Amino acid sequence: MAETAPSGDILAGRRVIIGVTGGIAAYKVAGLVSSLRAREAEVRVVMTETATWFVTPTTFATLTGREVHTEMFSPHLKHEMQHISLQEFGEVLLVAPATANTIGKVAHGIADNLVTTAIMAAKCPVIFAPAMNDQMWCNPIVQENIAILKRHGYGFVMPEAGRLACGAEGTGRLAAEEHLLAAIETALAGPTPELDLTGRRIVVSAGPTREALDPVRFLSNRSSGKMGFALARAAAAAGASVTLVTGPTALSDLPGVEMVHVTTCAEMEAAVLAAVADAEVFISAAAPADYRPAEYSDVKIKKGEDLNLKLVKTGDILLAVTSKARPAVVVGFAAETGDAAAKGRAKLEAKGLDMVVANDVTQPGGGFATDTNQVVILRRDGTERSLPLMSKLAVAQVILAEIAALLTAREER
Ligand SMILES: Cc1cc2nc3c(=O)[nH]c(=O)nc-3n(C[C@H](O)[C@H](O)[C@H](O)COP(=O)(O)O)c2cc1C
Repeated sequence: MAETAPSGDILAGRRVIIGVTGGIAAYKVAGLVSSLRAREAEVRVVMTETATWFVTPTTFATLTGREVHTEMFSPHLKHEMQHISLQEFGEVLLVAPATANTIGKVAHGIADNLVTTAIMAAKCPVIFAPAMNDQMWCNPIVQENIAILKRHGYGFVMPEAGRLACGAEGTGRLAAEEHLLAAIETALAGPTPELDLTGRRIVVSAGPTREALDPVRFLSNRSSGKMGFALARAAAAAGASVTLVTGPTALSDLPGVEMVHVTTCAEMEAAVLAAVADAEVFISAAAPADYRPAEYSDVKIKKGEDLNLKLVKTGDILLAVTSKARPAVVVGFAAETGDAAAKGRAKLEAKGLDMVVANDVTQPGGGFATDTNQVVILRRDGTERSLPLMSKLAVAQVILAEIAALLTAREER
């Protein structure tokens, strides 16, 4: 299980090595290192000689408060074997940006500089974040080298599509910083199955619903939708075909995800039932209202005497899914105030779910409107996995990896 410092943040006090290689995106890695330090991670940076043409070691030395090494052999190093001291230091090693050259070298066992040697000597998880020109990215040799490294257990944060430094449009941009941070957090959270959801159909619900009382008022709750959006983003990034059914939130539509906007619980139920018909997975991360006003007033209710509102129960979307159109894997969330694991387990059993992600919304950094969450994953077989405080994107990656393992286990049966 992952250790955490008193602040509870999974990154606090953790030892991260960043290997910078010679790509134009090297300048972005200064921002990543700064974010890691802000979250109290201990960071050591190693660079290839080519990388120093793009960003100077002084930048990283200043950000990390540690010397930055670029050479294995130097009269100044007093016989210290850098790659071995790095091996002892690192709990995770991220190579960002990872050039086609460095990927190719490691895939073929070449360790001719401090970065490639540190990768080969690493005892900790190693993650590559490639970034390059789209033509280089499409080169079958690069893709074969990536396949070799994946086969040997190396992790990848794949590049994004967009405008490249050379002016072209295509795939090859270094993944966004939050994806790089999430990959580091996920690696630190402990062994997690490989996240590959290529070809999987996943439906996620997110956000609150609004139950109208009159034309200007409604009942709702404090759900921001961030957890559901993080799940949809991480699933799409892992190759799944994703439908996100969302109540009203302040979040922007996600590229590459089929967005379905709804307002009420009844609308959410209908949209989810339609979407899950051909899906393998439904993740209910929404917080649909439990009650709605029994009557809707067509005109604004005027302020007068005290008002007694009659509320009626809304439909149960999870139960509707499990009874009418159950996909292979159904996952619920239990946002509770106190004793989240026990309440989550009760929900799992009552609704016949495969997994419940439970959290105590009263804990600092967890729950609504934050970018972080601290959850316990309850599985149907009675086992559970507690995660430290992590970004919602990293929590999403762990949940999806658990789902991927469940799907694979079922298919192998
Ligand atoms: C201006 C410029 C930008 C470059 N950007 C990239 C890049 O984004 N990705 C990449 O794989 N190679 C890029 N290269 C090529 C690498 O720098 C070259 O392959 C080098 O040998 C990589 O060395 P390293 O992997 O040891 O750092 C670039 C070269 C130049 C001159």
